[in-house]
Amino acid sequence: MSPVVDSRPLILWGATGQAKVLKEFLPRLGWRLVALFDNNPSILSPFAEVPLLGGKENFADWLSSQDEIPSALAAIGGDRGRDRLQIQRWLAEFGCWIPIACHPTAWIAGDARIGAGCQILARSAVGTESILEDAVIINTSASVDHECHLGEGSHIGPGAVVCGCVSVGSGAFIGAGATVLPRLTIGSNTVVGAGSVVTANLPPDVVAVGNPARIIQIRNAAQ
Ligand SMILES: CC(C)(COP(=O)(O)OP(=O)(O)OC[C@H]1O[C@@H](n2cnc3c(N)ncnc32)[C@H](O)[C@@H]1OP(=O)(O)O)[C@@H](O)C(=O)NCCC(=O)NCCS
Repeated sequence: MSPVVDSRPLILWGATGQAKVLKEFLPRLGWRLVALFDNNPSILSPFAEVPLLGGKENFADWLSSQDEIPSALAAIGGDRGRDRLQIQRWLAEFGCWIPIACHPTAWIAGDARIGAGCQILARSAVGTESILEDAVIINTSASVDHECHLGEGSHIGPGAVVCGCVSVGSGAFIGAGATVLPRLTIGSNTVVGAGSVVTANLPPDVVAVGNPARIIQIRNAAQ
């Protein structure tokens, strides 16, 4: 086990699967998880030692009781990138520092640019000259090749392959194991189904599945 080099207080917003994923490695990077928040009042803390203190209505009071303003991450995965981004911005308005969570086994090219709140998970890769805007998730074993641009709040699912020079719009979600061929554009808020192969540009606000991927649904822009 690696020694903890520092111990900086951190909260997670979201108390389900993505919180578990982050909690597995954040202590190894020197973070101490002090509290969870979630707007869903019907869930319990998944961690015996970390309290779940409610939602937005409780946050300001709790924060004012703290000696130190904690850092914060929005632990919201799946296709809810817009929620992740919105919560992250809301937390930053309270003065919370929004770190980058990069798993020790992930590889990021030295010249890639990584925005605040990005979550780069185990065994994933981010290639040279790629740009990740704020609150992007690169999930387990996903690969983002050279010169890609991933918009804020986008999510590359587990094992997905995003080839070189691809642009992924804000809030878009590339499902597990999908492949996006080089130089394509995925519109904002669009969802690519698991295992799909994207061979042509996709517009914003659609769901596309299959090989080659075809549009099967229009997404409500508010989704
Ligand atoms: C694409 C997706 C979002 C569609 O979900 P949905 O809106 O609930 O759609 P449905 O399940 O009703 O499926 C609609 C149709 O698309 C097909 N379909 C759904 N997902 C598909 C996929 N990934 N590949 C091929 N076809 C798919 C269904 O078989 C169904 O076909 P039918 O109308 O002929 O019966 C979902 O299936 C998916 O792939 N999500 C990604 C999950 C993921 O990767 N999670 C990672 C967690 S981090």
